[in-house]
Amino acid sequence: MLPEISRRPFLQFALGAATLPFASAARAETFPARPITMIVPFAAGGPTDVLARIIAEYMRASLGHPVVIENITGASGTVAGLRAARAAADGYTITIGHWGTHCLNGAIYQLQYDVREFAPVALIASGPQLIIGRPDLPAQNLKELVGWLKANGGKATSGTAGPGSGAHVAGVFFQQLTDTNFSFVPYRGAGPALNDLMASHIDIMFDQASNSLPQVKSGTVKAFAVTASSRLASAPEIPTVDEAGVPGLYIAYWHGIWAPKGTPDEIVSTLSKAVMAALAEPAVVKRFAQLGQEIPPPDKQSPAALRSHQAAEVEKWWPIVKSANIKAE
Ligand code: MLT
Repeated sequence: MLPEISRRPFLQFALGAATLPFASAARAETFPARPITMIVPFAAGGPTDVLARIIAEYMRASLGHPVVIENITGASGTVAGLRAARAAADGYTITIGHWGTHCLNGAIYQLQYDVREFAPVALIASGPQLIIGRPDLPAQNLKELVGWLKANGGKATSGTAGPGSGAHVAGVFFQQLTDTNFSFVPYRGAGPALNDLMASHIDIMFDQASNSLPQVKSGTVKAFAVTASSRLASAPEIPTVDEAGVPGLYIAYWHGIWAPKGTPDEIVSTLSKAVMAALAEPAVVKRFAQLGQEIPPPDKQSPAALRSHQAAEVEKWWPIVKSANIKAE
């Protein structure tokens, strides 16, 4: 028989272990009991921020608590990535991310976390980029843009959302396909980069359609092509890259939501249902369509679907990015 003093920790351990499943069930039943933070890895007002705020607003109805946006910028989303990876796995901190943050960054940066090791919550939407230029750029179409870039060899500038970001990677592929040379100017997100393009401080951008479509429509930037094999329903006047003269430069920028690794399945499921309910709202469907965003069918929004989509994208893009020798600096 153990003396009283030494039996107590053993009893506590045994009781603790026996109550664990009940504790987890109780936690899931009461989740969420307070507001949830959604980390946005780029500047406010940019494409990821815009999608995050739309989804967050509608998640509130299912969750009964607000989803508060926190913009953590820097290094193409990797500052936010580390913060999200190290957050408590309790469902109260989640992150939105995309092709850049949860695929490309893993091939380009030496990270202290693994982009594949978050708990997937939902695949939200996908949309192409637009190749756009400052309003006073002399080129009127993509072929003229290529000519102008060649004539201005090395002096032209392209704004990006950070070194190694999707805008940078797409720009490098464009350079390779067109034999052009220009330099990249990194920003803390596509929002501030677009502001500088409108003010003619930089020349061009490979920008998510959701960011620049409103400016294209209002004529404050020029659109030369959409990086897809078909035109956007919301902007049928913009030719595809195939039509405009740089065939095959296809970039599909997909967004998803993740929780930290180890977040209990019941909590992930509650969050996932809230995102899917938001995506089914007619107002969200309409707004996303206006932004050139295609929402996947419900069976392709699930955590499992996001996991396999991300894995397929990693398998496809990591070898391409590594062989293109794209560096973060
Ligand atoms: C942003 O919100 O700034 C963008 O998602 C960045 C990007 O294009 O990767």
